[in-house]
Amino acid sequence: MIKKCLFPAAGYGTRFLPFTKAMPKEMLPIVNKPLMQYGVEEAMSAGIYNMAIVTGRGKRAIEDHFDISYELEHQIKGTDKEIYLNDIRKILNTCSFSYTRQIEMKGLGHAILTGENLIGNEPFAVLLSDDLCDNNGDSVLKQMCKIYEKYRCSIVAVEEVEINEVSKYGVISGKKIDNNIIVVDNMMEKPNKEEAPSNLAVIGRYILTPDIFQILKNTKPGKNGEIQITDALLEQCKNGMVLAYKFNGTRYDCGSVDGFIKATNVFYQKYKG
Ligand code: G1P
Repeated sequence: MIKKCLFPAAGYGTRFLPFTKAMPKEMLPIVNKPLMQYGVEEAMSAGIYNMAIVTGRGKRAIEDHFDISYELEHQIKGTDKEIYLNDIRKILNTCSFSYTRQIEMKGLGHAILTGENLIGNEPFAVLLSDDLCDNNGDSVLKQMCKIYEKYRCSIVAVEEVEINEVSKYGVISGKKIDNNIIVVDNMMEKPNKEEAPSNLAVIGRYILTPDIFQILKNTKPGKNGEIQITDALLEQCKNGMVLAYKFNGTRYDCGSVDGFIKATNVFYQKYKG
């Protein structure tokens, strides 16, 4: 039912300078795979094969990664190194990639609106690659797609965070209607702990209905002077329904050095098998 996944990938990745001076943060490796490849694989696990990527200046490595490298393929053909390309070949054989550029960085809401032409008039997923999720069973996006099939409205993935951490996130409050499912009644972008409606923080997984684009066009700059998806979602919940879902799994904030190192250790154990 959800056929496209939007990847906002134009941000500067300032928390990872100087690495991100000439390299996209989405290409940071967790063991041997770039962060964004984990994101694409998560989308595939949810039955989504059309990847819509909002890029910016200095992000060409992303396009090259999701493409064939003829010279490399030729060099390693028939050698024991070919297996290292198995996963990426599977992606290239099954997925399509479309790109558009965000010319000015005006916030996550603006990045999502920039992707409108790639999405069109259908519900879609949004995945922020620097939030890496790890699961034993269904991926977070797959869990969310199942909920979408039942409720047919926008959904945000949330987790409880320390109250001192709420100022890093979009924060929601609402009423529980089902196991792990909450009807959102308030949402704030990066509140301080005194004003936060709860400690339930939005992480980088969303399912959005396409009316969000019209709302985003009318959304004024909010926190930090940026167009915030949080503000557009609050508008959507006033006129309809938005759900928050407490997902199963562990999420690593790989946009921060601490989260990146934690994820590296966990994924290295898996890699060693
Ligand atoms: C963005 C959103 C925020 C959300 C977060 C999840 O913030 O604006 O609401 O909680 O992603 O990672 P950013 O981390 O891009 O500042």
